[in-house]
Amino acid sequence: MKLLVIILSLFFIVPTGSANEGSGVSSLSPELQLLFSEEMVELKKGMNQIMDAYVAGQWNDIVPIAKKMENSYVLRKGLSQDQMDQLHSKLPKEFLSLDERFHYYSRMLAHVSEKKKVELIGFYFSKMSETCVSCHRLYATRKFPSFKPDVEADKHHH
Ligand code: HEC
Repeated sequence: MKLLVIILSLFFIVPTGSANEGSGVSSLSPELQLLFSEEMVELKKGMNQIMDAYVAGQWNDIVPIAKKMENSYVLRKGLSQDQMDQLHSKLPKEFLSLDERFHYYSRMLAHVSEKKKVELIGFYFSKMSETCVSCHRLYATRKFPSFKPDVEADKHHH
């Protein structure tokens, strides 16, 4: 258990700032960008479905959704070798590690849902949402301008 806590605490280091937009998804080919965007919309649907099942106490329903999220993401899909090379050379290391973190949490969420560990379901769901935010804050400020530093600072004046 202690080890688990240590391992988990490593994931709490959330990156700040948002200067990496240029080195992210926008440097990929248009086809890959499209695949990526479709995948993101699927993730969003998945999160909504999980929330619905979670508040209704239908833990079993969470399992297949979380597993699908773990497997469906564009970085794991049947891409050509060329596309894989493109992803690995164009996307920054930090981006790929956030992606890995996301997959770790979706796997854990599927696991604890199977075991019906209610508190842990809530825990991993929230950790998973945090990886959405962490990655968007760094790499998706074009899509989500609220994460831009000046916009964030601006909010405090209202
Ligand atoms: C490893 C990085 C990363 C993770 C993790 C991530 N996203 Fe994204 N997401 C992005 C990037 C980058 C974009 C913007 C792509 C662009 O600029 O077109 C994006 C865009 C989106 C969009 C807009 C898609 C569109 O084109 O309309 C949605 C919705 C979205 N993400 C949902 C999620 C949800 C929900 C999660 C977590 C369950 C998540 N994302 C996790 C990187 C990530």
